Amino acid sequence: MTTLLFVSLAILFFSSFDLHTTTAGCDDTVHDQGGSNLVQVIHVNSPCSPFRPKTPLSWQDSVLQMQSNDKARLQYLSSLVAPRSIVPIASGRAVTQNPTYIVKAKIGTPAQTLLMAVDTSNDAAWIPCTACVGCSTAATFTPAKSTTFKPVGCGAPQCNQVPNPSCGGTACGFNVTYGGSTIAASLAQDNITLATDSVRGFTFGCIQKATGTSVPAQGLLGLGRGPLSLLSQTSSLYQSIFSYCLPSYKSPSFTGSLRLGPNSQPIRLLKYTPLLKNPRRSSFYYVNLMGIRVGRRVVNIPPSAFAFDPKTGAGTVFDSGTVFTILVKAAYTAVRDEVRRQMGKAVVSTLGGFDTCYTVPITVPTITFMFSGLNMTLPQDNFIIRSSAGTTSCLAMAAAPDSNVNSVLNVIATFQQQNQRILIDLPNSKLGVARERCS
Ligand SMILES: *[C@@H]1O[C@H](CO)[C@@H](O)[C@H](O)[C@H]1NC(C)=O
Ligand SMILES: *[C@@H]1O[C@H](CO)[C@@H](O)[C@H](O)[C@H]1NC(C)=O
Ligand SMILES: *[C@@H]1O[C@H](CO)[C@@H](O)[C@H](O)[C@H]1NC(C)=O
Repeated sequence: MTTLLFVSLAILFFSSFDLHTTTAGCDDTVHDQGGSNLVQVIHVNSPCSPFRPKTPLSWQDSVLQMQSNDKARLQYLSSLVAPRSIVPIASGRAVTQNPTYIVKAKIGTPAQTLLMAVDTSNDAAWIPCTACVGCSTAATFTPAKSTTFKPVGCGAPQCNQVPNPSCGGTACGFNVTYGGSTIAASLAQDNITLATDSVRGFTFGCIQKATGTSVPAQGLLGLGRGPLSLLSQTSSLYQSIFSYCLPSYKSPSFTGSLRLGPNSQPIRLLKYTPLLKNPRRSSFYYVNLMGIRVGRRVVNIPPSAFAFDPKTGAGTVFDSGTVFTILVKAAYTAVRDEVRRQMGKAVVSTLGGFDTCYTVPITVPTITFMFSGLNMTLPQDNFIIRSSAGTTSCLAMAAAPDSNVNSVLNVIATFQQQNQRILIDLPNSKLGVARERCS
C-alpha cells in the first residue's frame, strides 16, 4: 500500500485559521497516475492556506526570517544529543523554530483533522489536546469525542520509549523540549489516517501544557528513525520506506509530496548512498559527505570537516526543518571562496547571514555534494536564491557558528533538496536521490 501525501511549506508563523475554507482549486482529493491516494496540503502562502500571512513579507524580510529560523533549528538539532537533556536550550532567550512542512492527518473516530508539522529529525508524534494550557491554537484534538481513543498506561512498553517518563497517576506522562518550548504530554493511542491509509492504535503524546512559541500549532509528526516514530509504528504497512519531494521555492503553488511505503517509488531513477546510524543522535538520517565540487572543481576541504563521529554526534545529516544548508566553517569558507573566485571581479555584497551576493548573473553552473557512491549535483535554483525583481542573487548556504565545537553538524537543508525525490530505505540502510519536478 502506498500513500502519497502532499506536503506544504509553512515557513511562517501559525495563527488561528479556518480549516474549512473553500476556494476554487483547493479541493484536497486528487489522484496520481499510479492510483495511489493523495492528500493535498496547501502552501502556507497559497490562497487555499489557512496559514497565509495577512500581509506578505518582502523578499529580504522572508530571507532574513528563514535565516533566523535556521539558526534556532541548528541550536535545536545540536541540543539533541543522548542522554537527552530536558533543560530548554538557550533558556531565557526566545528561540523560535517554526516548522517548514505540514501534512493533513485525521485522528480518532470520527476523524478530527489536524495539520501536523513533519520533522525527519524527530521521532515523536504529539498533538495539542483539549484544555491544553499554552497551546497556541483553537484547533485541538478532543479525546472525549473519539470512540477509539485510549490512554497508554505506565506499565505499557511504549512508556519506556518516551524521554523522561513520569507516572504520577496511571497514565504515562512525559516532558520534552522542542526548540525553545517545553511540552508536558500524556501518552495515548488512537487511529491516525494519512491520505486513505488508516493506522490503528497509533501512539502519540496528547499535549496538556506547553511553554514557548516553537510548538507547531497542530502538532508534530516525527519521521525520524527511533522506536516511536511513524516509520517504526507502521513498519508492517510501509516497511520503513518513504520518500519525499520538496517543492520549488520559486513555485507559486509550493506543493510537494510524501510517499509512504515501497510501492510506486522511482527505483530506477534513484542513486544511493549508505545511511549511517549515530547513537548520539539516533533519530537523524546521517550520510557520508566526502567532498564538494563547485562547477567542475573539487574544493580543497580538510576531511575533518566531514568526519562522522559516533562519540560526539558529528557528521552530515539530511533535515526537513532547516531551509539553507549549513556547513562547518572550513567547508563553507572553501566553497564560498571558490564561488567568489569563479565570479572574478564582480562586487560581492551581503544579505543577513549570506555573505556572497551579487547584482550580476552568477556564472557558477552547479554545486555537487559528493557522498559515498552518490554525487548529488545541484542546479543553480538549488544553491542561488534570487530576489523576485531579479536584481540580487546570493549563495544560499551558511557557515555553522564557531562555538559549536561539540556538535559539528553539516545539515543538507530543504532549499538544496527542492525538486529532488529523497528516499529513505531503512531495511537496506540507504538514502536515494533522484531529480524530480515536484511542483
Ligand atoms: C479505528 O480503529 C477501529 C479499531 O480499533 C476501527 O473499528 C475504526 O473503524 C477505525 N476508525 C477509523 C476512522 O478508521
Ligand atoms: C513535567 O511537566 C509538568 C508540568 O509542567 C510538571 O508538573 C512535572 O513535574 C514535569 N515532570 C517531569 C518528570 O519533569
Ligand atoms: C563523483 O565525482 C567525483 C569528482 O568529479 C568523481 O571522482 C567520482 O567518481 C564521482 N562519484 C560517483 C559515485 O559518481
